[in-house]
Amino acid sequence: MALVEKELAGHVRSRAAFVTEAASHLMAAGGKRVRPLLVLLAAETGERPADPGVITAACVVELTHLASLYHDDVMDEAALRRGADSANARWDNHVAILTGDFLFSKSSELTAELGADAVRIQAQTFTRLVEGQIQETVAVGPGEDPIEHYLDVVAGKTGSLIATSARYGAIFGGATADVQRALTEYGEIVGSAFQLSDDILDIASDSVESGKTPGTDLREGVPTLPVLMAKASTDPADTRLLELLDADLSDDALHAEALRLLRTHPAMQRARDYVVGQAAEAKERLNVVPPGAVRDALEAFADLVATRTS
Ligand code: IPE
Ligand code: IPE
Ligand code: MG
Ligand code: MG
Repeated sequence: MALVEKELAGHVRSRAAFVTEAASHLMAAGGKRVRPLLVLLAAETGERPADPGVITAACVVELTHLASLYHDDVMDEAALRRGADSANARWDNHVAILTGDFLFSKSSELTAELGADAVRIQAQTFTRLVEGQIQETVAVGPGEDPIEHYLDVVAGKTGSLIATSARYGAIFGGATADVQRALTEYGEIVGSAFQLSDDILDIASDSVESGKTPGTDLREGVPTLPVLMAKASTDPADTRLLELLDADLSDDALHAEALRLLRTHPAMQRARDYVVGQAAEAKERLNVVPPGAVRDALEAFADLVATRTS
């Protein structure tokens, strides 16, 4: 990870000083580096975990992720990211969008070093990520189950890149085709669970823990899993909450009230239980990995994603 970190700092550099400043801004602000970590971990299932392609692939997925954060904060009108001002808040939407584009390009350039298969996988991943981000803004059609729609959005916008992280690790670490397939499935499920945990934390955590503004999804009207589960309630005690969830929550007082009611609502536990179930589902895919330290770490990674508090 130290090597990945060092290389990442080089990849966000541009010949234009301002582009370097804007592109380094969120890289330097922090971040958990979950995706490159998963690349390195998945590579341990193969016969050459220290292959240079593993490090390159780890940089590719973090750069793709980072780019998506610049764009996501424009979409969500978010002011805070990784405990720092978002790029759109610090500069403006134009700078944030173009810096995101710059980072996507850097990520693509780097992927080319990994060969045509890796380029195709990265392109397909990015297609799914963008489809997920767009589908999130589209209202569900009549007769469509809102929870199914949302789970599909989550798999696209977040499951796809985390699946690719595990897949790249397995490919470039030299794992067997069976393990590559199993880890891709594992990554897809863990990745969706990671997003659902993020959605729960958007309601439950404060900005000191998350480095983001709590309640952003609510304010933006993105109905995440706990909200969709609460909306299914027929308990008369929930009348006020349901009214708020259908209202415009750009008003600070109404937003705070909705957030307060949701935090103590049983739907939060129901959503957490669903995520824990998904982690168990992901761990089942690891049967093809021989028992030992690597499989233990992949299992622990799935558990951590489901129960994380930051
Ligand atoms: C945030 O991802 C966006 C989601 C897909 C939930 P992370 O929680 O991995 O963000 P950083 O990289 O640690 O800042
Ligand atoms: C964004 O989901 C997912 C991607 C960046 C692709 P969110 O909007 O929930 O992410 P945060 O909460 O802003 O990190
Ligand atoms: Mg967001
Ligand atoms: Mg979020």
